Formats: sequence, C-alpha cells, structure tokens
Amino acid sequence: MDSVSNLLGAIEDVGRDATRGGYSRPVFSNAELDLRSWFEQEATRRGLEVETDRNGILWAWWDTGSERSDSSRDGALVTGSHLDSVPGGGAFDGPLGVASALAAVDVLKQRGVQPQRALAVTVFPEEEGSRFGVACLGSRLLTGGIDPDAARNLRDPDGVSFAEAARANGLDPAHLGKDDDALRRIGDFVELHVEQGRGLIDLDSPFAIGTSVIGHGRWKLSITGQGNHAGTTLMADRADPMVAAAQVILAIRKTAAATPEARATVGRVQPIPGGTNVIASRVDLWIDVRHPDDAVTASLVESIHGQAQKAAAFEGCAAALTRESVSGTVNFDGELQRQLQLAIPGAPGLPTGAGHDAGILAAHVPSAMLYVRNPTGISHSPEEHVEDDDADAGAVALADVLERLL
Ligand code: GLV
Ligand code: MN
Ligand code: MN
Repeated sequence: MDSVSNLLGAIEDVGRDATRGGYSRPVFSNAELDLRSWFEQEATRRGLEVETDRNGILWAWWDTGSERSDSSRDGALVTGSHLDSVPGGGAFDGPLGVASALAAVDVLKQRGVQPQRALAVTVFPEEEGSRFGVACLGSRLLTGGIDPDAARNLRDPDGVSFAEAARANGLDPAHLGKDDDALRRIGDFVELHVEQGRGLIDLDSPFAIGTSVIGHGRWKLSITGQGNHAGTTLMADRADPMVAAAQVILAIRKTAAATPEARATVGRVQPIPGGTNVIASRVDLWIDVRHPDDAVTASLVESIHGQAQKAAAFEGCAAALTRESVSGTVNFDGELQRQLQLAIPGAPGLPTGAGHDAGILAAHVPSAMLYVRNPTGISHSPEEHVEDDDADAGAVALADVLERLL
C-alpha cells in the first residue's frame, strides 16, 4: 500500500495560502483542478477507470471481472470524499478520505480481493460551499437536494455564477441536477474523514464509526443603513449597519450559549463598500447554526432573526435574512453501522457536528462514515493534523470495511 502520508505528500504544496496559512482550494480553482488531476493520475495508476459525471463528481471505477454492461455498475460500493477546502483550511479535511480510499484499493489488491460488485472512489465538488455558498453542492445536485436553477444562479464573491464556472470546466450547465443513473450506482457509500473535534482524543482511539451528523444550516443576513462620510456625519445622525451587525453577533453568541448543544457562528462579515473612512451602506453576514434537534435549529434562527430586526431598527437600519442551505440531523444507517462494527471490531461510535456529503447521501442510499483521530482537535484551520500511523490505520480500517461490504 502507498502510505497515506506519501499520497498526501504529493499534494502538500497545492493551494497553500500564503496570507491565511494552510490551504485555500475552492472548487474549480487552479488548486482544486490540480488536485483533481492528481486524483485521476493516482486512480489510473491503480487501473481504475475515471469519469466525470454531469454534476462534476469524479468516479474512479474498479469493475468486477465479468462483462461490463449498462447496469454492471449499479449498486456499487462507493467510497470517497472531497478535495475543495475552506479558506485557510487544513491538509486533511477532504483529501484524507480521498487518499485513504486510494490506499484502501491498494490494500484490497494486495489481499487479492476480486470485487463481487463494482467499487468506485468518488470526489465531490464544493463540499465546503466556500466558493458558491451552498455546502455539499455536488451531492445535493446528484440527489436533487437543490433546484438546478438555484444552483446555476449561485455566485461566488467575484460574481461568477456556478453555471459559468461549470461551463468553463467542461460541464454543460443545462445538465446539472438530479442524476438517477448515478444515484442507482451507489449501493452503499462509506466516507472516511479526519475527525474535526476532540472526540477521538477523548476516546483514545485512532478511528471511529460515524453515528450521526447534527443538523446544520447557513443563513445570510443583510443589514441596510445609510452609507455616509466618517468625518462629517455626527454620531447622532447615523444609520450604521456595522453597529447593528456587532449587536447581532453578540446576540447570536448569547442565544446559542443559552441553548444546550447549540452552535452558532458568524465567520464571515462583508461591509459594503468597505472603506476605513466610510460608514457602510450595508453589511452582509453569514450565520452558521447547528443543533441535533432540527426544530431547535429553526427556533434559534427565528429568534436570531427577530433580534436582528430589533437591533437594526434601533440603529435606523433594516435587516433581511435569507436561507442558503439547510441539512437536517442525520442518523446513519443502522445495518451499515453494524457491518462496519463487524469489520473493525472495537471501533467506537462517534457523532459529529461537521457536515459531510455522506450526510446528504444518507437520505437516498445506505451511508456510513469513518473518522480518523486529529490530535489537535482543531479543524477548518492550518492546525488540523493527523499522525502518519493513524492515517495508515484508518486506510486499513477502510479496506477492512470495503472488503466486508464487497
Ligand atoms: C463542513 O466541514 C462543515 O461542517 O461546514
Ligand atoms: Mn470542512
Ligand atoms: Mn470535509
């Protein structure tokens, strides 16, 4: 087996972010495209047949020995993850699952496994939603979880639409959307991922089996005021949306902190036009809210919306909230979890607060996850880490799981 650290070593310079540290690999950026080429080469080197589907998902096929037909890939065992990153992200969120899947194929080949059903390694585009705003865009398109028109009209911060970006990368925007043929090919889906919290540190285990993903969503809040001059506008005469935004951010923390198990984050604020000596005319901020109970998530958002309207009105501004994406809490397939437990006895179960393509696919096909220990407990940051031995143990665990499921 190629060690996982060897595989990841080949891409350690791709998409490094000199300003933020770590990696910035948004979908269809040069960095993400380089990673896709790396994946195609590694898959081809292993004798897998690589294709890109109409939603930009990469599939690398290990077919059964029998004759290929239209349906011989239906019900395949599929594993994989994503290669795009958040801005200034770590090296493992996404690529660990892809590299481990390739390493697991090596292990299966070394063991002389002959697949009784096809196996595919997949790479999903825009899992982070860091460029077009909607998390897990590739798996949502595949499963019909987003209206194709809405997806085509998503825009990145430079105003490029997803349709334009898709076309520039060889996809036909008219063909984006639910793909029943591709979906039929997934018999079971297993995603290996770096653990993004400190669950495995506390459990003192190199890997765990995913049990659930807590519900999560993203909302954009636009607070509109009166753009004006920083020197000539008296404090009493202002309608400054930045001041309202500051109140809203504090209210969000207070609201989430008062709700057991809730998490709410404002990680991105954009003043318009954004000048040191300019009172902003508008401030956009993005709110990420998560809770295991979807009804609680909804009520948290309602409460935040109400508080935002109040704070905006107090400053002479107006606030408008729009939903960008929502995923309900997912409990992974019980029978598939049982199969994973049988394949890797002793592996603990672990819930997660992070979103994944496996969570989107779970509503359509039996899906499961494996997490690999992250000794820093930090993710979406350059400090995210995985020890080489744990990465290899994770890849072997994935191979054990795949062998059992094949
Ligand atoms: C993705 O990692 C997310 O949980 O937002
Ligand atoms: Mn992530
Ligand atoms: Mn991820």
